[in-house]
Amino acid sequence: QVFQASTTAPVNIAVIKYWGKRDPKLNLPTNSSLSVTLSQLDLRTHTTASCSSSFSSPDSLTLNGSPQDVSSARTQACLRELRQLRRQLEDSDTKLPKLSEMPLRIVSENNFPTAAGLASSAAGFAALVRVIADLYQLSSTPTELSRIARQGSGSACRSLFGGYVAWEKGTEADGSDSVAVEVAPVSHWPEMRALILVVSAEKKGVSSTSGMQATVATSTLFPERAERTVPKRMEEMKKAILDRDFDTFGKVTMRDSNSFHATCLDTDPPIFYMNDISRAAVRMVEEINQAAGKVIAAYTFDAGPNAVIYYLAENEHAVAGLFKNILGSKDGWAGSRGSAVQSNSE
Ligand code: DP6
Repeated sequence: QVFQASTTAPVNIAVIKYWGKRDPKLNLPTNSSLSVTLSQLDLRTHTTASCSSSFSSPDSLTLNGSPQDVSSARTQACLRELRQLRRQLEDSDTKLPKLSEMPLRIVSENNFPTAAGLASSAAGFAALVRVIADLYQLSSTPTELSRIARQGSGSACRSLFGGYVAWEKGTEADGSDSVAVEVAPVSHWPEMRALILVVSAEKKGVSSTSGMQATVATSTLFPERAERTVPKRMEEMKKAILDRDFDTFGKVTMRDSNSFHATCLDTDPPIFYMNDISRAAVRMVEEINQAAGKVIAAYTFDAGPNAVIYYLAENEHAVAGLFKNILGSKDGWAGSRGSAVQSNSE
């Protein structure tokens, strides 16, 4: 007999960035972070998990058809925790099939090119944890599962929810209170849109995992960001979302992205994630906002050159329309080097 479950998980893009770990093994962050979840119609990971006593050991994992290393410490941490929760169920009800003892086969597909440099580990680990929780019929809440997904990749803990999600850094050494919580569902602010400018599809030069460790170890700007700047911004951002105040949402988003990239530049040796095209996107957004006389577009950059631009549906023409025109024209800003993926929040 084969037991099986399938699920999908969305991509999330942080507007207050996670950068820095106080515990690299458990992925415990030095500061809280906050993200907007993108629509699964555009960007998501679909994962199927099955288990059977007839499967051969060890567990296996494929992503877009290629076998992945299931023995990595991160994947093992997630599988171990999920099996432990299943074992508790099996111990309390001995009639349940012993799924926790069976080898797992996990098959994942992204509906976007992994090579596009878009955050795929977040959706990937969120889908992996959710699907095994479903397979094992665990009654855990998304927040409880976020504690497990965090150990796969920090940002993955935010992809267990839709809408606006905070990852509270927590203070416990075992990470039990370092979890994701919903700030507001997507229905609270359904006009939110995201435009992703794929500046480069190449794999990033410095991975976020090693980049943030280097920043923590060497940047003197970093403690200021983690201890003072971000805690204040978390509160401003939550309020802006609850008030549907795009002006504050946009300003805080852009300043936090710039603050994160400033600590990267302040790392020894310096880390550059943004390039000339990224900076041209920043200037475009500045011009759009100047022409509008208020903030109607906000950029943010993760650990790579691609821009994510947030705006409201009512400004579709002024923001997305303009970027698409430029991308479409031969002699335009990015020429043929960029492409755009549009997404609703979800
Ligand atoms: C810049 O979650 O990829 O996207 O925990 O080491 O897997 P690990 O790092 P990861 O880092 C994401 C960094 C970021 C900011 C963010 O998503 O908050």
